[in-house]
Amino acid sequence: MMTSSETSLTTIEDFRRRAKELLSSEGWSFYNDASGRRSTFRDSMAAFDRYVIRPRILRDITQRSLSTTVLGQPISMPICVAPTAAQQFAHPDAEAASAKGEAAMEAADAGVSGIIVSAHGGRHMDGVPAPIDVLAEVVSAVKGRGVEVYMDGGVRSGTDALKALGLGARAVLIGRPALWGLACDGPAGVTKVLSILRFELDTALGISGCTSIQDIPPSLIARKSYL
Ligand SMILES: Cc1cc2nc3c(=O)[nH]c(=O)nc-3n(C[C@H](O)[C@H](O)[C@H](O)COP(=O)(O)O)c2cc1C
Repeated sequence: MMTSSETSLTTIEDFRRRAKELLSSEGWSFYNDASGRRSTFRDSMAAFDRYVIRPRILRDITQRSLSTTVLGQPISMPICVAPTAAQQFAHPDAEAASAKGEAAMEAADAGVSGIIVSAHGGRHMDGVPAPIDVLAEVVSAVKGRGVEVYMDGGVRSGTDALKALGLGARAVLIGRPALWGLACDGPAGVTKVLSILRFELDTALGISGCTSIQDIPPSLIARKSYL
């Protein structure tokens, strides 16, 4: 049940904290779960800090658009919700899950139209790379083959999303943040989480000197060690 305090949830971190309070300990543990020593889970978030955005200035950014397409379908922004099991911990009506594809070249050979670069939120196997660290490699492996590449894992802010888009993702997906939104305020909470990320991405895009997702140049994002 939404309380007056929920209306003051203005960041993804606010939603995480409040969801922890509202969920049963079983529900929180399931959502927060990760395999092994949780290193892939932790690194999926921490890895974004290894990349920086290099803003361009003196550009007219008054008219901006976040819209794009996924497999030909128009979407209003390149941030989507990842499939996650056991949504009943967060909301009695909610359940959605679907499968994903990995192994870029084989997938392209098999004729797939899209690939999600994902470590399943660090839940399946510990010790694999953070998705943001292998994104560019996957994008390059399928370049020119008509395969769209998406990415999920650790996206917690608009700048995280911008970094993934700049490294070649067509869109990003969020897993846990959507569950936190669901736990805090049902479907309206998921919408709020998405609108926070939309606002943050739009702001980051503008400050970076870009007017649209298609306008993001490959040079916008650099790995810190390469600077
Ligand atoms: C509680 C939970 C359940 C999940 N269940 C599935 C699933 O059934 N199928 C699947 O392909 N991925 C599943 N995932 C992985 C997500 O689709 C997604 O890859 C991951 O959550 C992204 O990382 P993030 O939570 O840091 O955003 C699950 C993730 C979580 C947190």
